[in-house]
Amino acid sequence: MVKRNPNMAKLQSGYLFPEIARRKNEFIKKNPNAKLVSLGIGDTTQPIKPHITKGLADEASRLGTKEGYSGYGAEQGLEELRDRIAEKLYNGAINGDEVFVSDGAKPDTARLQLLFGSNVSIAVQDPSYPVYVDSSVILGQAKGYNQKKSQFGGIEYMKCVPENNFFPDLEKTKKTDIIFFCNPNNPTGAAAARGQLKQLVEFARKNKSILVYDSAYSQFISDKSLPKSIYEIEGAEEVAIEISSFSKPIGFTGVRLGWTVIPNELEFEDGTKVNKDWNRIMTTLFNGASNIAQRGGLAALDKKGMKEMEQTVSYYLENAKVIMASMEKLGYEVYGGIHAPYIWVRVPGKTSWQAFEEFLGKANVVTIPGVGFGPSGEGFLRLSSLGNRQDVDEAVKRIERSLK
Ligand code: MLT
Repeated sequence: MVKRNPNMAKLQSGYLFPEIARRKNEFIKKNPNAKLVSLGIGDTTQPIKPHITKGLADEASRLGTKEGYSGYGAEQGLEELRDRIAEKLYNGAINGDEVFVSDGAKPDTARLQLLFGSNVSIAVQDPSYPVYVDSSVILGQAKGYNQKKSQFGGIEYMKCVPENNFFPDLEKTKKTDIIFFCNPNNPTGAAAARGQLKQLVEFARKNKSILVYDSAYSQFISDKSLPKSIYEIEGAEEVAIEISSFSKPIGFTGVRLGWTVIPNELEFEDGTKVNKDWNRIMTTLFNGASNIAQRGGLAALDKKGMKEMEQTVSYYLENAKVIMASMEKLGYEVYGGIHAPYIWVRVPGKTSWQAFEEFLGKANVVTIPGVGFGPSGEGFLRLSSLGNRQDVDEAVKRIERSLK
């Protein structure tokens, strides 16, 4: 028999979201009449808007014609889409040839780890989207798990909690090769100010680190003074890669479309352009995003599509307001929810998993335990506002009734 990859054995239990699903199903088995409502996994629920749907449908129809059929596309994506992303979402701060279109931010995160290899050190916000840590462990960048600290050895956990305004104390942060930074943040919903992002870029420049900036939720930023992209910060093009996604703002979680920006200025220690190696990885391991999805993305970035995107985002942010108001009414300490579809709630006197079980058992509402995102998430729950309004209303009604 073949030896198991020892890195797989280092991972803690299952990946967070399937673990939630497992516990949910276990609960349903024991309580077959319970009707659960989910504020759990951040999956979208609202139908794709008509103009964007037409972009998808038109391409699907074209593929059924002799003239319109296309096979493999460029691995880097349609030139037209790369240019439009650069123009509409980055106001020309980057060029189309620095944009690599893909099937989403999560697979790009995994492929970035292949680009970096096993011998790099990483830093992550604590709490953070679990893919950064888990992909790093799988690749062998991390040492064993320290049960006492609930941390992997060899990974720098940058504490981001209410007490430091969810921004790490960079003076106390160890130098690492790679820094993962998700903004607006999943799970806390916090959005960094321009001055904070300047500090972060400065920190990466000083340490000669590469900053992997995940902006999957940038369209949820509702305050014009907050940066939507790291390239709004001077000098970022020399240190930062930006990963982003169409999933949440236009409902493409199932359609699959995202992108990664690697500026021409970004180089490895030996002077190799990072985007040269990324191009090699993508052309080797990826056959290009679906042509249908890319046409949908193009439609989302014209005038009508951008309007539709705004409408979808507003709908979810309205949901967030409903959830936040309800939790505040019950006396909980509430964060996030203004520039992100996630609400971060402190559950005093309980562990995250105890609170998860309580919300599930008493209100039949599914949430995500904060500790699943890192040790500093202990004592918090994450609530998602990406549901239907009706379900959100029902969830808050139940929570108010059974958890007051
Ligand atoms: C979440 O709930 O955090 C999201 O589903 C994460 C993702 O986009 O993979």
